Amino acid sequence: MHAVLIKDGQGPIENLYIGETDKPVPTKGEIVAFGINRMDHYQREGRYAVPLGASSILGVEFSGRVTELGEGVTRWAVGDEVFGLVGGGAYAEFVSCDEGLLLKKPGHLSWVEAASIPENYITAYQALVKYGEVKKGDHVLVHAGASGVGIAAIQMARELGAATVTATASTTEKLDWLRSIPNGATHTVKKTTNGKGADVVIDFVGQSHWAKNVESLAIDGRMTLLATLSGSEVPVVNLGPILYKRLRIQGSTLRSRSIQYQTELIASLSFRDMIDKVTGVNGGGPMRTYIHKVSIFFCSSRPVGHGHTIPQVYPWAEIQSAHHEMADNKNR
Ligand SMILES: NC(=O)c1ccc[n+]([C@@H]2O[C@H](COP(=O)([O-])OP(=O)(O)OC[C@H]3O[C@@H](n4cnc5c(N)ncnc54)[C@H](OP(=O)(O)O)[C@@H]3O)[C@@H](O)[C@H]2O)c1
Repeated sequence: MHAVLIKDGQGPIENLYIGETDKPVPTKGEIVAFGINRMDHYQREGRYAVPLGASSILGVEFSGRVTELGEGVTRWAVGDEVFGLVGGGAYAEFVSCDEGLLLKKPGHLSWVEAASIPENYITAYQALVKYGEVKKGDHVLVHAGASGVGIAAIQMARELGAATVTATASTTEKLDWLRSIPNGATHTVKKTTNGKGADVVIDFVGQSHWAKNVESLAIDGRMTLLATLSGSEVPVVNLGPILYKRLRIQGSTLRSRSIQYQTELIASLSFRDMIDKVTGVNGGGPMRTYIHKVSIFFCSSRPVGHGHTIPQVYPWAEIQSAHHEMADNKNR
Protein backbone atom coordinates (compact mmCIF):
# COMPACT_ATOMS: atom_id res chain seq x y z
CA MET A 1 0.00 0.00 0.00
CA HIS A 2 0.98 3.67 -0.17
CA ALA A 3 1.75 5.58 3.00
CA VAL A 4 3.51 8.73 4.11
CA LEU A 5 6.95 7.50 5.15
CA ILE A 6 9.98 9.22 6.67
CA LYS A 7 13.32 9.01 4.83
CA ASP A 8 15.98 7.61 7.19
CA GLY A 9 13.25 6.88 9.75
CA GLN A 10 13.23 10.42 11.17
CA GLY A 11 14.19 13.97 10.31
CA PRO A 12 12.96 17.34 9.07
CA ILE A 13 9.72 17.92 7.17
CA GLU A 14 11.57 17.44 3.85
CA ASN A 15 12.10 13.77 4.81
CA LEU A 16 8.40 13.04 4.40
CA TYR A 17 7.54 11.19 1.19
CA ILE A 18 4.88 8.85 -0.15
CA GLY A 19 6.25 5.37 -0.53
CA GLU A 20 5.18 1.75 -0.64
CA THR A 21 4.97 -0.43 2.41
CA ASP A 22 3.27 -3.65 3.51
CA LYS A 23 -0.44 -3.59 4.20
CA PRO A 24 -1.15 -4.08 7.89
CA VAL A 25 -2.26 -7.53 9.01
CA PRO A 26 -4.37 -9.22 10.20
CA THR A 27 -7.08 -6.61 9.97
CA LYS A 28 -7.19 -3.66 7.73
CA GLY A 29 -9.55 -0.83 7.03
CA GLU A 30 -9.42 1.59 4.18
CA ILE A 31 -8.59 5.14 5.20
CA VAL A 32 -10.26 8.02 3.43
CA ALA A 33 -8.91 10.86 5.56
CA PHE A 34 -6.59 11.36 8.49
CA GLY A 35 -5.87 14.15 10.95
CA ILE A 36 -2.54 15.85 11.47
CA ASN A 37 -1.47 16.41 15.05
CA ARG A 38 1.41 18.22 16.72
CA MET A 39 2.78 14.94 18.05
CA ASP A 40 3.37 13.82 14.43
CA HIS A 41 6.14 16.42 14.33
CA TYR A 42 7.76 15.05 17.46
CA GLN A 43 7.58 11.54 16.02
CA ARG A 44 8.99 12.61 12.65
CA GLU A 45 11.90 14.25 14.45
CA GLY A 46 12.54 11.12 16.53
CA ARG A 47 11.37 12.82 19.74
CA TYR A 48 8.27 10.72 20.39
CA ALA A 49 8.28 7.11 21.53
CA VAL A 50 5.80 5.13 19.44
CA PRO A 51 3.71 2.90 21.75
CA LEU A 52 4.82 -0.71 21.89
CA GLY A 53 3.28 -2.75 19.07
CA ALA A 54 1.99 0.30 17.17
CA SER A 55 2.81 0.98 13.52
CA SER A 56 5.80 3.28 13.05
CA ILE A 57 3.89 5.07 10.26
CA LEU A 58 2.71 8.51 11.38
CA GLY A 59 -0.90 9.29 12.24
CA VAL A 60 -3.23 8.53 15.12
CA GLU A 61 -6.70 9.47 13.85
CA PHE A 62 -8.58 8.69 10.66
CA SER A 63 -11.87 8.01 8.98
CA GLY A 64 -12.61 5.27 6.48
CA ARG A 65 -14.35 2.02 5.66
CA VAL A 66 -13.89 -1.39 7.22
CA THR A 67 -12.51 -3.67 4.51
CA GLU A 68 -11.54 -6.76 6.44
CA LEU A 69 -12.18 -8.17 9.91
CA GLY A 70 -9.66 -9.78 12.22
CA GLU A 71 -10.45 -12.95 14.08
CA GLY A 72 -13.04 -12.45 16.80
CA VAL A 73 -14.14 -9.00 15.67
CA THR A 74 -17.85 -8.73 16.42
CA ARG A 75 -18.72 -5.06 16.56
CA TRP A 76 -18.11 -4.16 12.93
CA ALA A 77 -18.90 -5.44 9.46
CA VAL A 78 -17.11 -5.00 6.16
CA GLY A 79 -18.28 -1.76 4.59
CA ASP A 80 -19.01 0.07 7.85
CA GLU A 81 -18.11 3.74 7.74
CA VAL A 82 -16.06 4.56 10.80
CA PHE A 83 -13.66 6.99 12.38
CA GLY A 84 -11.26 6.31 15.19
CA LEU A 85 -8.04 6.32 17.04
CA VAL A 86 -4.94 4.22 16.49
CA GLY A 87 -1.48 4.01 18.06
CA GLY A 88 0.10 4.73 14.65
CA GLY A 89 -0.33 4.11 10.94
CA ALA A 90 -3.05 6.53 9.88
CA TYR A 91 -0.96 8.35 7.21
CA ALA A 92 -1.65 5.48 4.82
CA GLU A 93 -4.20 3.84 2.60
CA PHE A 94 -4.95 1.06 5.09
CA VAL A 95 -4.66 0.77 8.83
CA SER A 96 -5.06 -2.00 11.35
CA CYS A 97 -7.04 -0.83 14.34
CA ASP A 98 -8.51 -2.23 17.54
CA GLU A 99 -12.28 -2.60 17.20
CA GLY A 100 -12.87 -0.77 20.49
CA LEU A 101 -11.21 2.39 19.20
CA LEU A 102 -13.64 2.87 16.32
CA LEU A 103 -16.80 4.96 16.24
CA LYS A 104 -19.55 4.79 13.64
CA LYS A 105 -19.26 7.77 11.30
CA PRO A 106 -22.51 9.73 11.46
CA GLY A 107 -23.97 10.93 8.18
CA HIS A 108 -23.78 14.58 9.21
CA LEU A 109 -19.98 14.46 9.30
CA SER A 110 -17.89 14.43 6.15
CA TRP A 111 -14.96 12.02 5.98
CA VAL A 112 -12.58 14.86 6.63
CA GLU A 113 -14.53 16.22 9.58
CA ALA A 114 -14.80 12.79 11.18
CA ALA A 115 -11.04 12.25 10.89
CA SER A 116 -10.41 15.50 12.73
CA ILE A 117 -12.32 14.51 15.87
CA PRO A 118 -10.86 11.51 17.75
CA GLU A 119 -7.50 12.72 19.08
CA ASN A 120 -8.61 16.26 19.78
CA TYR A 121 -11.93 15.52 21.42
CA ILE A 122 -10.78 12.52 23.45
CA THR A 123 -7.81 14.50 24.76
CA ALA A 124 -10.00 17.48 25.61
CA TYR A 125 -12.55 15.21 27.27
CA GLN A 126 -9.88 13.57 29.43
CA ALA A 127 -8.38 16.89 30.44
CA LEU A 128 -11.66 18.66 31.19
CA VAL A 129 -14.04 15.99 32.39
CA LYS A 130 -11.93 13.18 33.81
CA TYR A 131 -9.19 15.24 35.40
CA GLY A 132 -10.47 18.82 35.40
CA GLU A 133 -13.92 17.76 36.69
CA VAL A 134 -15.43 20.84 35.07
CA LYS A 135 -18.83 21.73 36.43
CA LYS A 136 -21.50 24.32 35.77
CA GLY A 137 -20.37 27.80 36.72
CA ASP A 138 -16.64 27.04 36.64
CA HIS A 139 -14.13 29.43 35.13
CA VAL A 140 -11.93 27.67 32.61
CA LEU A 141 -8.65 28.78 31.04
CA VAL A 142 -7.46 27.06 27.85
CA HIS A 143 -3.99 27.83 26.56
CA ALA A 144 -3.18 27.59 22.83
CA GLY A 145 -6.93 27.92 22.34
CA ALA A 146 -6.76 27.74 18.55
CA SER A 147 -4.95 24.40 18.60
CA GLY A 148 -6.82 21.27 17.64
CA VAL A 149 -7.19 20.18 21.26
CA GLY A 150 -7.78 23.76 22.42
CA ILE A 151 -10.79 24.47 20.24
CA ALA A 152 -12.34 21.16 21.28
CA ALA A 153 -11.74 21.98 24.96
CA ILE A 154 -13.20 25.50 24.68
CA GLN A 155 -16.46 24.30 23.13
CA MET A 156 -16.70 21.33 25.48
CA ALA A 157 -16.21 23.55 28.54
CA ARG A 158 -19.04 25.83 27.33
CA GLU A 159 -21.23 22.79 26.70
CA LEU A 160 -20.52 21.58 30.23
CA GLY A 161 -21.83 24.87 31.61
CA ALA A 162 -18.62 26.75 32.38
CA ALA A 163 -19.41 30.34 33.34
CA THR A 164 -16.49 31.66 31.35
CA VAL A 165 -13.91 30.14 29.05
CA THR A 166 -10.74 32.12 28.51
CA ALA A 167 -8.39 31.26 25.71
CA THR A 168 -4.85 32.31 25.02
CA ALA A 169 -3.29 32.39 21.55
CA SER A 170 -0.37 34.13 19.90
CA THR A 171 -2.21 36.36 17.41
CA THR A 172 -5.14 38.74 17.49
CA GLU A 173 -6.54 36.93 14.48
CA LYS A 174 -6.72 33.65 16.39
CA LEU A 175 -8.19 35.32 19.47
CA ASP A 176 -10.81 37.16 17.41
CA TRP A 177 -11.73 33.93 15.71
CA LEU A 178 -12.02 32.07 19.01
CA ARG A 179 -14.43 34.69 20.31
CA SER A 180 -16.43 34.80 17.09
CA ILE A 181 -17.43 31.16 16.82
CA PRO A 182 -20.55 29.77 18.53
CA ASN A 183 -19.62 28.37 21.95
CA GLY A 184 -16.15 29.83 21.55
CA ALA A 185 -14.00 31.63 24.11
CA THR A 186 -15.61 34.33 26.22
CA HIS A 187 -13.00 36.49 27.99
CA THR A 188 -9.44 37.24 28.88
CA VAL A 189 -8.19 35.97 32.22
CA LYS A 190 -8.58 39.20 34.18
CA LYS A 191 -12.00 40.03 32.79
CA THR A 192 -13.27 36.52 33.24
CA THR A 193 -12.75 35.75 36.81
CA ASN A 194 -13.16 39.02 38.69
CA GLY A 195 -10.13 38.17 40.77
CA LYS A 196 -11.41 34.71 41.70
CA GLY A 197 -9.05 32.85 39.39
CA ALA A 198 -9.58 29.91 37.06
CA ASP A 199 -11.14 26.73 38.41
CA VAL A 200 -9.72 24.67 35.57
CA VAL A 201 -6.66 25.32 33.41
CA ILE A 202 -5.79 23.27 30.34
CA ASP A 203 -2.14 23.84 29.50
CA PHE A 204 0.10 22.67 26.67
CA VAL A 205 2.83 25.24 27.12
CA GLY A 206 4.56 24.26 30.37
CA GLN A 207 7.68 26.16 31.39
CA SER A 208 6.90 29.73 30.29
CA HIS A 209 3.34 29.59 31.64
CA TRP A 210 3.96 27.70 34.87
CA ALA A 211 4.15 30.58 37.35
CA LYS A 212 1.22 32.45 35.79
CA ASN A 213 -0.86 29.29 35.67
CA VAL A 214 -0.33 28.64 39.37
CA GLU A 215 -1.09 32.30 40.07
CA SER A 216 -4.26 32.17 37.93
CA LEU A 217 -5.72 29.10 39.60
CA ALA A 218 -8.52 29.63 42.12
CA ILE A 219 -8.86 27.91 45.49
CA ASP A 220 -9.36 24.16 44.82
CA GLY A 221 -8.33 24.78 41.19
CA ARG A 222 -7.37 21.96 38.83
CA MET A 223 -4.81 22.10 36.04
CA THR A 224 -4.31 19.42 33.40
CA LEU A 225 -0.92 19.51 31.68
CA LEU A 226 -1.08 18.05 28.17
CA ALA A 227 2.27 19.13 26.74
CA THR A 228 5.33 21.27 27.46
CA LEU A 229 5.67 23.21 24.21
CA SER A 230 7.91 25.92 25.71
CA GLY A 231 10.07 23.53 27.73
CA SER A 232 9.62 21.25 30.69
CA GLU A 233 12.01 22.57 33.33
CA VAL A 234 10.96 25.28 35.74
CA PRO A 235 13.94 26.69 37.63
CA VAL A 236 12.07 28.08 40.65
CA VAL A 237 8.91 26.51 42.02
CA ASN A 238 7.00 28.09 44.87
CA LEU A 239 5.08 25.28 46.53
CA GLY A 240 3.15 27.74 48.74
CA PRO A 241 0.20 28.45 46.39
CA ILE A 242 -0.16 24.76 45.57
CA LEU A 243 -0.56 24.09 49.26
CA TYR A 244 -2.70 27.00 50.39
CA LYS A 245 -4.96 27.04 47.33
CA ARG A 246 -5.27 23.22 47.50
CA LEU A 247 -4.37 22.94 43.82
CA ARG A 248 -4.48 19.72 41.84
CA ILE A 249 -1.98 19.56 38.98
CA GLN A 250 -2.37 16.51 36.77
CA GLY A 251 -0.43 15.32 33.74
CA SER A 252 -2.34 13.43 31.06
CA THR A 253 -1.42 11.36 28.02
CA LEU A 254 -3.56 9.43 25.58
CA ARG A 255 -1.52 7.59 22.97
CA SER A 256 0.63 5.77 25.51
CA ARG A 257 -2.37 4.50 27.49
CA SER A 258 -3.44 0.86 27.16
CA ILE A 259 -5.94 -0.18 24.50
CA GLN A 260 -8.27 -1.21 27.33
CA TYR A 261 -8.11 2.26 28.90
CA GLN A 262 -8.76 3.98 25.57
CA THR A 263 -11.59 1.57 24.74
CA GLU A 264 -13.29 2.22 28.08
CA LEU A 265 -12.93 5.96 27.66
CA ILE A 266 -14.44 5.89 24.17
CA ALA A 267 -17.24 3.57 25.33
CA SER A 268 -18.21 5.72 28.31
CA LEU A 269 -21.69 7.16 28.01
CA SER A 270 -20.66 10.69 28.87
CA PHE A 271 -18.00 10.65 26.15
CA ARG A 272 -20.45 9.24 23.59
CA ASP A 273 -22.92 11.91 24.56
CA MET A 274 -20.26 14.55 24.01
CA ILE A 275 -19.20 13.20 20.62
CA ASP A 276 -22.83 13.01 19.46
CA LYS A 277 -22.96 16.78 19.89
CA VAL A 278 -20.05 17.47 17.55
CA THR A 279 -21.23 18.47 14.12
CA GLY A 280 -19.53 19.56 10.96
CA VAL A 281 -19.83 22.58 8.75
CA ASN A 282 -23.52 21.99 8.02
CA GLY A 283 -24.57 20.99 11.52
CA GLY A 284 -26.35 23.11 14.07
CA GLY A 285 -25.08 21.29 17.14
CA PRO A 286 -23.49 22.86 20.21
CA MET A 287 -19.98 21.86 19.12
CA ARG A 288 -18.28 21.83 15.75
CA THR A 289 -15.08 20.53 14.32
CA TYR A 290 -13.21 23.22 12.40
CA ILE A 291 -11.01 22.18 9.51
CA HIS A 292 -8.07 24.51 8.95
CA LYS A 293 -7.17 22.99 5.60
CA VAL A 294 -7.88 19.62 4.20
CA SER A 295 -4.50 18.24 3.42
CA ILE A 296 -5.04 14.63 2.60
CA PHE A 297 -7.16 12.48 0.43
CA PHE A 298 -6.03 9.54 -1.53
CA CYS A 299 -7.90 9.50 -4.77
CA SER A 300 -9.39 12.50 -6.50
CA SER A 301 -12.48 10.59 -7.54
CA ARG A 302 -13.36 9.71 -3.97
CA PRO A 303 -15.84 11.97 -2.18
CA VAL A 304 -14.46 14.00 0.74
CA GLY A 305 -17.86 14.80 2.17
CA HIS A 306 -21.59 14.51 1.87
CA GLY A 307 -21.99 17.50 -0.36
CA HIS A 308 -20.00 19.71 2.00
CA THR A 309 -17.87 22.51 0.75
CA ILE A 310 -14.39 22.06 2.10
CA PRO A 311 -12.48 25.35 2.17
CA GLN A 312 -9.12 24.26 0.76
CA VAL A 313 -8.08 20.86 -0.40
CA TYR A 314 -4.66 19.76 -1.47
CA PRO A 315 -3.55 16.25 -2.22
CA TRP A 316 -1.71 14.05 0.20
CA ALA A 317 1.41 14.42 -1.93
CA GLU A 318 1.62 17.82 -0.29
CA ILE A 319 2.09 16.37 3.16
CA GLN A 320 5.20 18.51 3.63
CA SER A 321 3.19 21.71 3.14
CA ALA A 322 0.70 20.53 5.71
CA HIS A 323 3.47 19.86 8.22
CA HIS A 324 5.03 23.26 7.53
CA GLU A 325 1.70 24.94 8.14
CA MET A 326 1.41 23.33 11.57
CA ALA A 327 5.09 23.76 12.47
CA ASP A 328 4.69 27.50 11.77
CA ASN A 329 1.69 27.62 14.14
CA LYS A 330 -0.53 28.88 11.30
CA ASN A 331 -3.30 26.36 11.81
CA ARG A 332 -6.49 27.04 13.69
N1 LIG B 1 -1.20 14.64 26.52
C1 LIG B 1 -2.09 14.25 25.61
O1 LIG B 1 -2.87 13.32 25.82
C2 LIG B 1 -2.12 14.97 24.30
C3 LIG B 1 -2.98 14.55 23.27
C4 LIG B 1 -3.04 15.30 22.08
C5 LIG B 1 -2.23 16.42 21.96
N2 LIG B 1 -1.38 16.77 22.97
C6 LIG B 1 -0.51 17.94 22.88
O2 LIG B 1 -1.33 19.07 22.89
C7 LIG B 1 -0.71 20.11 22.13
C8 LIG B 1 -1.70 20.62 21.11
O3 LIG B 1 -1.85 19.63 20.10
P1 LIG B 1 -2.57 19.98 18.73
O4 LIG B 1 -2.38 18.86 17.82
O5 LIG B 1 -3.94 20.43 19.06
O6 LIG B 1 -1.63 21.21 18.31
P2 LIG B 1 -1.74 22.35 17.24
O7 LIG B 1 -3.10 22.38 16.63
O8 LIG B 1 -0.55 22.22 16.40
O9 LIG B 1 -1.59 23.66 18.10
C9 LIG B 1 -0.51 23.93 18.91
C10 LIG B 1 -0.49 25.44 19.23
O10 LIG B 1 0.28 25.64 20.40
C11 LIG B 1 0.82 26.94 20.36
N3 LIG B 1 2.26 26.85 20.64
C12 LIG B 1 3.23 26.25 19.93
N4 LIG B 1 4.42 26.40 20.51
C13 LIG B 1 4.19 27.13 21.61
C14 LIG B 1 5.02 27.64 22.64
N5 LIG B 1 6.33 27.41 22.67
N6 LIG B 1 4.45 28.35 23.62
C15 LIG B 1 3.12 28.60 23.60
N7 LIG B 1 2.28 28.13 22.67
C16 LIG B 1 2.82 27.41 21.69
C17 LIG B 1 0.56 27.52 18.97
O11 LIG B 1 -0.56 28.38 19.05
P3 LIG B 1 -0.38 29.97 19.24
O12 LIG B 1 0.03 30.46 17.88
O13 LIG B 1 -1.69 30.45 19.68
O14 LIG B 1 0.71 30.14 20.28
C18 LIG B 1 0.18 26.28 18.17
O15 LIG B 1 -0.63 26.59 17.07
C19 LIG B 1 0.53 19.50 21.50
O16 LIG B 1 1.66 19.86 22.23
C20 LIG B 1 0.27 18.02 21.58
O17 LIG B 1 1.45 17.27 21.64
C21 LIG B 1 -1.32 16.08 24.12
